[in-house]
Amino acid sequence: MFNNLPLHPEAASTVARDVDGVYFFLVLMSLVLTIIVGLCIFVFSIKYRRRPGNEIPVEYQPWDWLENAFSGAMLAIFILFFLAGAKLYFTVQRAPKDAMNIYATGRQWMWKFQHPTGQSEINQLHVPVGRPIKLTMASEDVIHSFYVPAFRVKRDVLPSRFTETWFEATKTGTFHLFCTEYCGTEHSGMIGSVVVMEPAAYQQWLTGGPEGGDPVKEGEKLFTKLACNTCHAAQENGRAPVLAAAAGKPRQLAGGQTVLGDDAYIRESILNPRAKLVAGYEPIMPSFQGQVSEEQVMQLITYIKSQAPTGATPAATGPAQPPTPAPANAQTSNSTGAANAPSR
Ligand code: CUA
Repeated sequence: MFNNLPLHPEAASTVARDVDGVYFFLVLMSLVLTIIVGLCIFVFSIKYRRRPGNEIPVEYQPWDWLENAFSGAMLAIFILFFLAGAKLYFTVQRAPKDAMNIYATGRQWMWKFQHPTGQSEINQLHVPVGRPIKLTMASEDVIHSFYVPAFRVKRDVLPSRFTETWFEATKTGTFHLFCTEYCGTEHSGMIGSVVVMEPAAYQQWLTGGPEGGDPVKEGEKLFTKLACNTCHAAQENGRAPVLAAAAGKPRQLAGGQTVLGDDAYIRESILNPRAKLVAGYEPIMPSFQGQVSEEQVMQLITYIKSQAPTGATPAATGPAQPPTPAPANAQTSNSTGAANAPSR
């Protein structure tokens, strides 16, 4: 119906219709109320204009029922706004459990995407149609914002933490991707496209597509290089939690609370280990802030999650990943100095 209206981008995701619905509902209500108020002003300013002879107006007591009805109707309309918005907000904020996780990194001035199977691409994102895609996003520098108008998806990408968004494309094609947060001189050039493909074509693309380093392997290399494995061994050693058992599970903290060992928690624990210390361990882990890029953090997380027993993180891994064996020196390096700072 609105497809030819240039103000209204193509609708190509499962939430697009609902977002448009709420939007047009708001516009329509604003329009109706504006017309009613405008008409009243116009009619009353003529009807009750000042007449010759300095006529004194009679005092007038408005009907209570009219006032109450008016307030009640307004309240009902605003509650409707709220309900429609809240319902949609929950849908848009929470990715379905079976969503395929893709990492996205924003930096001045490009987008980088990392598929669960290792392919990475720049300023282009290939996804299958009809499958929920969850994006876990971080920025290497300043605030960016991931925006795909056709999917009605917009989410800030921050340097300090992970943000998430998700979408499920309903039609194949190529759709614009924008950065919608002013991020420097070439902000307007920070654009790209999302290519939605038939599932079979996507599989084809995965096999023939640009080969990046396998994030699990890269993560494992980093894990060893940064000497994480001296403390986070494959077996419990009293110094640091066994990470394989931790990913995706609730973690009991020293303060008594429990947090979920999700991506955001692992990321924080790498960059600021003391922020949420697991109960029963000393705060001996150094911070890796400034030593690892966001991309490397994502590789570490992918590696750590790949170690988790199957079923622990159903939402996180996409197509099946070959289980990666624990680092060979994980058990033998305990004697080389426990809480040493990383060796780089
Ligand atoms: Cu990145 Cu604007």
